[in-house]
Amino acid sequence: MEKKWWHDAIIYQVYLRSFNDSNHDGIGDLQGVIDRLDYLERLGVNAIWISPHYDSPMDDNGYDVRDFFKVSEDYGTVDDFKRLVKAAHARGIKVLTDLVLNHTSDEHPWFQAAKDPTHKDHKRYKDYYIWHDGQIKADGTKTLPTQWVSWFGGPVWQYVAALDQYYLHIFSKKMPDLNWRNQNMKNDMKAMIQWWVEIGVDGFRVDASNHLEKNWDFPDAKPGYEHFSSLPKHHEYLQELGREIFKPNDLLIIGEAGGASKAEALQYAGHDSEEFDLLIQFEHCWADSDDNNVLTPGKWAKGMIDLPKIKHSFAKWIEVFDKKGYHTLYWHNHDQPRIVSHYGHDQTYHEKSAKMLAYTLYLLPGIPIVYYGEEIGMTNVDYTELDQFRDVEVFTEYKNFIANGASHNMALKALKDRSRDNARTPMQWDDDAYGGFSTVQPWIDVNQNKAWINVKQQEHQTDSILNTYKTLLSLRKEEDIPNAQVRFIDIDNPRTFFVHIKAKHHAYYVLANFKSETISVALPTDIKDYTLFLSNTEQLSKTEHFGAYEARIYRKKN
Ligand code: NOJ
Repeated sequence: MEKKWWHDAIIYQVYLRSFNDSNHDGIGDLQGVIDRLDYLERLGVNAIWISPHYDSPMDDNGYDVRDFFKVSEDYGTVDDFKRLVKAAHARGIKVLTDLVLNHTSDEHPWFQAAKDPTHKDHKRYKDYYIWHDGQIKADGTKTLPTQWVSWFGGPVWQYVAALDQYYLHIFSKKMPDLNWRNQNMKNDMKAMIQWWVEIGVDGFRVDASNHLEKNWDFPDAKPGYEHFSSLPKHHEYLQELGREIFKPNDLLIIGEAGGASKAEALQYAGHDSEEFDLLIQFEHCWADSDDNNVLTPGKWAKGMIDLPKIKHSFAKWIEVFDKKGYHTLYWHNHDQPRIVSHYGHDQTYHEKSAKMLAYTLYLLPGIPIVYYGEEIGMTNVDYTELDQFRDVEVFTEYKNFIANGASHNMALKALKDRSRDNARTPMQWDDDAYGGFSTVQPWIDVNQNKAWINVKQQEHQTDSILNTYKTLLSLRKEEDIPNAQVRFIDIDNPRTFFVHIKAKHHAYYVLANFKSETISVALPTDIKDYTLFLSNTEQLSKTEHFGAYEARIYRKKN
């Protein structure tokens, strides 16, 4: 296969709102990213993915786009964006943006015209969205077209009296879904994408890409996800974009398709796919849900970590893409809790477990995406009040938990464990009042552990989490880890993570204890040929005892 620039990409996801505030309004911005490019370069990153930067009323932090051709005033201007691209490129850093295709904001001019029968452009734009009449019940009253449930909780339908119809929104009611069967809408979207390409973006992360097609028979079902997720026709839309824009412009396209099957994955991102280059599917992200919890159900219920599930998921996806594509490596993004709180231990074993999680992920083959703050071990929120949260999903789900019979404290615990705000708090640059993110109160509270978890402190500590990330990311380059061969050992063991990696110059064993108690691990017989290369404890021997969250990397020359 022809070598592409992204085959050795190390991508860093910048959650723009929370990364760095340059103009002292409490909100991260584009200039703030420019100001931190040196930091990103030192970390070893050669591509950044910026969460939505478009003009938006911010119901869902920018995934509700009001104007695709404008940068949100919170973040700067199109000229600032151009300066960011230029400054990043000057450092050899590529720039990817989020591409939101499934919906717009209800404040987008298309929707404003669509919902208003007196608007001069109503006829053209009504069909850009998805509308349905209500059902007439036996008693003559009207009810929702179907019982489908939105990803943020609550119905997917919202009534518009002027049309006596409902529009579909599979996320918040301020995010009406677009109708991808409408050719004019598609053409407008293509022109928009091309416009950003001409500005210089190097690729996109395609938001909610598996939802573009809906079941237009609108059968009744609850929750009905199968009627608006992964329907075959959405591939046609993606292929059209691929053929006309993504491929001819040599962009890196990362698709988001939660729950994709193996076959679908190759259809999305196999070497000969016309759609994406990389796929994000989240299978390993919720390996600790408690299915018996009815008060705060689904992803909101935290149970025991099923480590074999995580390892099998990595092994499966690495195998799926072996020679057929590239695997995408990540612990999480802005929609899941912080990894050190989620699969590690964010108190007693904070530093140790954050390094353990880094060792286990970043020696695996594939293209990595580091989520901002992960490299210093940022944790879940330390909030005590509901009004400290900001995410639109939090508030719909909180009401659902209370309606299910959960107490306020139980509901708050679910939010503190699992809500998306956990991964959206301001970047902790130093221990100043607002963590060096801003000089004023930020849009969302800084975690007070900024006092001991911050960049400034870790830059000076040679064996910090941050410096561990630098070591591992530079090792990925030296050893061509994206193309390494991996073998999982004792994969069904619920306590250990144990892999053998054959890389360009060396072979490695990565061994880690995912538990907070000491365990004993039978070391492989050929360990005598290996020397200890990295360890997250002082103890340097080849003992079989692994303390809480202890992890070691051994290596030998090929
Ligand atoms: C997936 C994004 O990652 C998430 O943050 C957003 O809420 C939904 N798509 C809707 O755009």
